[in-house]
Amino acid sequence: MKVLEVEDLKVHFRSPDGLVKAVDGVSFDLNDSEILALVGESGCGKTVTVLTIMGLVKSPPAIVEGKILYKSNELTKFSKEEYRKMRGRKISMIFQEPMSSFDPLYTVGEQMIEVVKTHLQYDEKKAKELCIEMLKKVQIPLAEKRFDEYPHQMSGGMLQRIMIAMALITNPDILIADEPTTALDVTIQAQVLNLFKELQRNYKTSVIFITHDLGIVAEIAERVHVMYAGKIVERAEVGKLFSQPKHPYTKGLLESRVKREYKGKFLPYISGNVPRPTDFPSGCRFHTRCPRAMEICKSKEPKEIEIDGTKVACWLYGEGEPE
Ligand SMILES: Nc1ncnc2c1ncn2[C@@H]1O[C@H](COP(=O)(O)OP(=O)(O)OP(=O)(O)O)[C@@H](O)[C@H]1O
Ligand SMILES: [Mg+2]
Repeated sequence: MKVLEVEDLKVHFRSPDGLVKAVDGVSFDLNDSEILALVGESGCGKTVTVLTIMGLVKSPPAIVEGKILYKSNELTKFSKEEYRKMRGRKISMIFQEPMSSFDPLYTVGEQMIEVVKTHLQYDEKKAKELCIEMLKKVQIPLAEKRFDEYPHQMSGGMLQRIMIAMALITNPDILIADEPTTALDVTIQAQVLNLFKELQRNYKTSVIFITHDLGIVAEIAERVHVMYAGKIVERAEVGKLFSQPKHPYTKGLLESRVKREYKGKFLPYISGNVPRPTDFPSGCRFHTRCPRAMEICKSKEPKEIEIDGTKVACWLYGEGEPE
């Protein structure tokens, strides 16, 4: 069953340099209990896509077109109030920087209780019990004591686990994780990912997992969508994506992963730069960097077609010249 359907989503921003086409015709479905990975280089529109789903990018001032259906509810038509009720309850989000998601002035426990009391009809005592239970589930040692501590008293890995606890405490249908482990060092990252996977399985939450890191994708996701310049260029099952990548961009990402030796924010290193979203190339947006670019790629945008279960938008697989 589908819990979320995004249809031809466009999110544009007006800027002094022109229209920023951050997301420019993105469609995808999220199935019940699956982990779907969204990957792509910095600036390709991953975060804007999910912030729009969360109702955190609104038109105006942004220009939002297309449909976002959550169990047949059209989210783009939701009022602020409707969104407020749903956010954190039906759809939760974990951000990259745990520190910025907590208020330094309140204890971790106070912040967790706030979430519970906002969304579930629990009294103080029951809410606290649930929070402590949740802290234990994310393996916070001395949970009762930690409950009364402030965010700055926690390590990054601990805070990120508490974020996961807070996101799951209402048992949402959908969890959006935007680079949840990028800020952590590699060992802690692995621990947090394992925990994440385990909880996702127990709660049967549907997850959109955003990452730059194809290694993480291989570990965590079932399906992957590869984004480039505001569009999805390839969608495949994880195994297929790694064994038979179709789009030259995907191939580039996979090759750069082999070359890559450091853990950084940017995925090096496909030659050339990501085009600016005010100024996307004509035709296929990747043609300016594509080692396989042909004449047609410069002028005509490729349509998505299906080959061996993978969907790809690339003229290499087009059925000859278009009309
Ligand atoms: N409010 C805004 N106004 C104008 N431009 C914006 C706004 N928000 C995002 N953008 C632009 O939209 C583009 C897509 O941004 P987005 O944050 O979605 O990228 P991303 O794929 O998440 O990148 P990263 O991997 O670095 O997080 C970027 O060029 C960004 O500068
Ligand atoms: Mg982002």
